[in-house]
Amino acid sequence: RIAGPCTVVMFGVTGDLARKKLIPAIYDLANRGLLPPGFGLVGFARRDWGDGTFAALLKKAAKAGARTEWSETVWKQLAAGIKFVPGQFDDDDAWEELAKTLTKLDERQGTGGNHAFYLSIPPGLFPTVVSKIDEHGLAKPGMGWRRVVIEKPFGHDLESAKELNQLIGNVFESESVFRIDHYLGKETVQNILALRFANQMFEPVWNANYVDHVQITMAEDIGIGSRAGYYDGIGAARDVIQNHLLQLLALVAMEEPVAFDAASLRLEKQKVLRSVRLPDDLDKHTAHAQYVEGWAGGQPVVGYLEEEGTDPKSLTETFAALRLDIETRRWAGVPFYLRTGKRLGRRVTEVAVVFKKAPHLPFQRNDVTELGHNALVMRIQPDEGVTMRFGAKVPGTTMEIRDVNMDFVYGGSFVESSPEAYERLILDVLLGDPPLFPQHREVELSWEILDPVMEHWSRKRTIDTYQAGTWGPQSAIDMLARDGRVWRRP
Ligand code: BG6
Repeated sequence: RIAGPCTVVMFGVTGDLARKKLIPAIYDLANRGLLPPGFGLVGFARRDWGDGTFAALLKKAAKAGARTEWSETVWKQLAAGIKFVPGQFDDDDAWEELAKTLTKLDERQGTGGNHAFYLSIPPGLFPTVVSKIDEHGLAKPGMGWRRVVIEKPFGHDLESAKELNQLIGNVFESESVFRIDHYLGKETVQNILALRFANQMFEPVWNANYVDHVQITMAEDIGIGSRAGYYDGIGAARDVIQNHLLQLLALVAMEEPVAFDAASLRLEKQKVLRSVRLPDDLDKHTAHAQYVEGWAGGQPVVGYLEEEGTDPKSLTETFAALRLDIETRRWAGVPFYLRTGKRLGRRVTEVAVVFKKAPHLPFQRNDVTELGHNALVMRIQPDEGVTMRFGAKVPGTTMEIRDVNMDFVYGGSFVESSPEAYERLILDVLLGDPPLFPQHREVELSWEILDPVMEHWSRKRTIDTYQAGTWGPQSAIDMLARDGRVWRRP
C-alpha cells in the first residue's frame, strides 16, 4: 500500500500536533517508502517565512519526533516538495498564492492535482478556511481528488457538531471528509476486531451470559501542560470520552460487520451507539473531578487551577467517569464503565472485559484465597498486548487457588514494528481508504450520549477534587462500590 502522487496542505502547521505528530509521521511514511516520489507538502500560516525557513523547521520537528532512523537522503527528497504560503486565513491574495503554489507543485512534482487539506486548527477557524477553500475553487476535483482531514473537537455538543458538519458538507462530498480519531489508528485498537472476529474462543463468551461488566480506562500521568487554551472549558469528557472512549466501547460491543469495509463497520458501530442508555441517576453513576496539587514521577506538581492559562474559578473536569448500559440482547444488564483523567497514577489505556465468577467452586473455602473475576484485558498502551486473568493452583500440597496472568506481548510475538497511529491514518487519507475514520453520524450519536451528562455536571456548579498522582476522586470509587464493583488498578 503506497500512496499515489498528491499534495498535503496543512492548516495549523505551527501548532503542537503538527510538530509532535503530523510532520514526524509524514517523514516516517517517506522513510518506509510509502509516499510517492511526486509528493508535496504546503504550509499555510500567518508567519513571515520563506520555503527555506519552513523546511528547516519541519526538519527539526521530523528529526525530533521520527520513529524510524534519520536519513538525509529521504529528507532531501521530501524537502523538494515543501512550500510555504504566508498569510491570514481570510486574506484572498494569500489564497490566490496558495492556488498558484498548488498548480506549480502539480506540474513540478507531478502531484497529479490530488490535494488533501489538513485542518489542524481550532474549530472557530473552520468556517473561514472551509469557505475560502470553496471560494477559490480548491475543493473541486479537476484532474485529481480533493479531500479534507479534520481533527477533533468535532463540535462542543450535538448542535455545534451538526453545524460543523453542515459547513463541511456544503463544500466536500461526505466520502472526501476524513475525521481523525487517532485511537482508531492504533494497532492495539484495530486488534480488538482481530481478537474478536478472527478467533473462535472469545465470541461465545462475549455477552451478558458470561460478562459481568466492562471497564474502559484511559489514564494519563501528564497534566494539561501548555494546552489550557484548548482544554479549559472543554474538559476530559469532551476531550476523550466523546471520541476515543466511545469508539473503544463501540468496537468492544458491536456485532460482527458483514465485511471489513467502512460502510459495514460504521453501521455496526452506529447500532451500538444508538443502543447506549445513560443511567437515570447521573449523580450516582457518574463522577467528575479536578486534580489538585500532588505528585507526578516523584516530583511535586501544581493543581489544575494553578496551571498556566486556566481560569482560577474553572469547573472544567480533568477526570470523568460514567456508567453506560447497552440495550441489546447481547449486553442487557452488563454495565460499561468508562473513566479517564489527567495526572493519574500512571499512563495506561486498557479495556477490561470482566467475567462473572464461576457459579460453584468444588474446593474447600479456605483454599480459595485470592480468586477474583476472570478477565480479558486488551492493553492498548503503553505495554501493548492482551492479558488473560484466571485462577490457577498454587504449587504445593494443598488445593490453593490464586489469580494469575497470561500475557500476549507484541514484542514477543512479532518482529514487525507498529506504525504510529498518525502514520497509518495519514496513509489511509492519501489512499482514500475510509474504514478507520468515524463518520458524522457516529460523532452525533456520541454527543447524544454525552450532552445530558455535560448538562448535568454544569448544573451542579461544583466539582470534586483528587490529588495529582492518585487514581481519581472518592466519588468514582463510590460510583462502582454502589454497584458492588471496584475499579481495576492497572
Ligand atoms: C488527545 C487528547 O486526543 O489524546 C489529549 O486531546 C490526550 O488530551 C491525547 O493527551 C492522548 O493520546 P495518546 O495517544 O497519548 O493516548
